[in-house]
Amino acid sequence: MNHVTVITGASSGIGTELARVFARNNHRLLLTGRNTVALEALANELTGAKPIVLVADLTEPGAAQRLVDTLRQNDVSAGILVNNAGYGLAGRFADLEGASQLNMLDLNMRVLTELTYLLLPDLVAAKGRLLNVASTAAYFPGPGMAAYYASKAYVLSLSEALHQELKQQVGVTVLCPGTTATVFFDRAGINPKLIKALRPMSPLQVAEAGYRGLMAGRRVVVPGWHNRLLAGVSGVIPHFLFMSFLQHLQTGRRK
Ligand SMILES: NC(=O)c1ccc[n+]([C@@H]2O[C@H](COP(=O)([O-])OP(=O)(O)OC[C@H]3O[C@@H](n4cnc5c(N)ncnc54)[C@H](OP(=O)(O)O)[C@@H]3O)[C@@H](O)[C@H]2O)c1
Repeated sequence: MNHVTVITGASSGIGTELARVFARNNHRLLLTGRNTVALEALANELTGAKPIVLVADLTEPGAAQRLVDTLRQNDVSAGILVNNAGYGLAGRFADLEGASQLNMLDLNMRVLTELTYLLLPDLVAAKGRLLNVASTAAYFPGPGMAAYYASKAYVLSLSEALHQELKQQVGVTVLCPGTTATVFFDRAGINPKLIKALRPMSPLQVAEAGYRGLMAGRRVVVPGWHNRLLAGVSGVIPHFLFMSFLQHLQTGRRK
């Protein structure tokens, strides 16, 4: 069976740039997200083998299995899985709607875990690769986005453990971007003007770093020296020093 690279959250931001980078490197793709127009436009723009497009809300029951069925209907298997789909919600834990927070945790953790589990036999058979997108948020508790930060800590921890467990079979890499210029903050409810002041990286820079790290078999990729510094000091400096800054950024001046 032919192999494809499956990219979740390909309709926007880092996922779109990952799709462009993989396509430039001659990967055939399966692109998924909810936005039909964006996915079709991306599929038409990419050169090389026509991507398979699956429009799906991955948090809906049975959606992950539908992705596997789509692969089989197209007579292909997954050689690489990129678990990129995810979103954040800004606000105090007690103020955010419970159902919205649970949906976010569902996408960021359960869907990522289910897709990894369902596609692992494909990846093992292909001696393939797995790229999970976490965040520098994985390294700190994040007041003002508490559940989001915790979900990314899960992704980092799971991925590092799988890197070790699957060493001889599947190359597992976790990508931990810092602030990146996408619609993420708008969707999360953070004023994008505040984010501009943090000098975000471009999604293309992040995608290229993720691709290079995956292909090199790296365990963890943190793009940008300033983000590597942040991740590096996270184990050394007391977290309370960062927490009031984060809380102010994420809840102090909502749009
Ligand atoms: N931007 C940052 O500063 C930053 C930093 C660190 C980590 N990250 C992580 O990077 C990843 C990509 O984020 P981004 O910055 O590129 O944000 P983005 O532009 O908002 O992209 C998020 C992607 O996830 C998809 N998605 C959201 N809900 C979905 C659902 N229910 N079912 C299927 N797909 C869904 C979206 O597609 P549809 O809207 O079409 O469904 C979109 O393609 C996320 O995991 C995020 O946590 C971002």
